Amino acid sequence: MDNIIEMTHPLIKHKLTQLRNKNTSSSQFRRLVSELAVLTGYEALRDLPLEDVETETPLETCLAPMISGKKLAIVPILRAGLGMMDGLLSLVPEAKVGHIGLYRDETTHQPHEYYCKLPASIDQRLILIPDPMLATGGSAIAAVDFIKQRGGRQIKFLSIIAAPEGLEAFSKAHPDVQVYCGCIDRELNSNAYICPGLGDAGDRIFGTE
Ligand code: PRP
Ligand code: URA
Repeated sequence: MDNIIEMTHPLIKHKLTQLRNKNTSSSQFRRLVSELAVLTGYEALRDLPLEDVETETPLETCLAPMISGKKLAIVPILRAGLGMMDGLLSLVPEAKVGHIGLYRDETTHQPHEYYCKLPASIDQRLILIPDPMLATGGSAIAAVDFIKQRGGRQIKFLSIIAAPEGLEAFSKAHPDVQVYCGCIDRELNSNAYICPGLGDAGDRIFGTE
């Protein structure tokens, strides 16, 4: 699965362990998800193209690199993907933002769409899809399906924890889409929750049960 990138930075591992802890409060959880989004975005945007731009320093004029006119879109999967937005926007404040609303049926674990609004010219943008959890992979696959149906081509999926079963399914469906994850956990349980995981990311971010 060449498209899967499990990140190894010690800061990611440390913050992820704090995130897993059942005693981590909602406010701490939100802060950690946001910080992990920054670190994940930093890795995922490593290959952004640069171009030299004439720049006047107080001393002289020089050619200095800036990100070359790449149009970015961030399209979080509701709800939990929203928790990663602040962190990603702090890296790329000019990015356009779309939303995909998906929820998993509690019995079948199949994703159901309830909202999809994407920025204009989606076919010309690098698209980041944040969602902290990739479990069966159903939601991630459906989100990429929607974006591709609407013309999106260059897509990266940003997760915090992923299950091996979900990554395999995702890679079969979308081998062209890179997935960044903070950790590949052991397995899914009979309710399709990731183990050891962190529980329900949306509930922990928003303080719902
Ligand atoms: C969670 C999570 C992912 C999805 C992952 O969302 O944020 O979107 O489950 O599971 P999958 O890989 O098996 O599809 P959920 O459907 O619980 O919705 P919520 O964010 O509104 O709580
Ligand atoms: N969604 C979550 O929030 N957590 C899981 O473990 C699986 C799906």
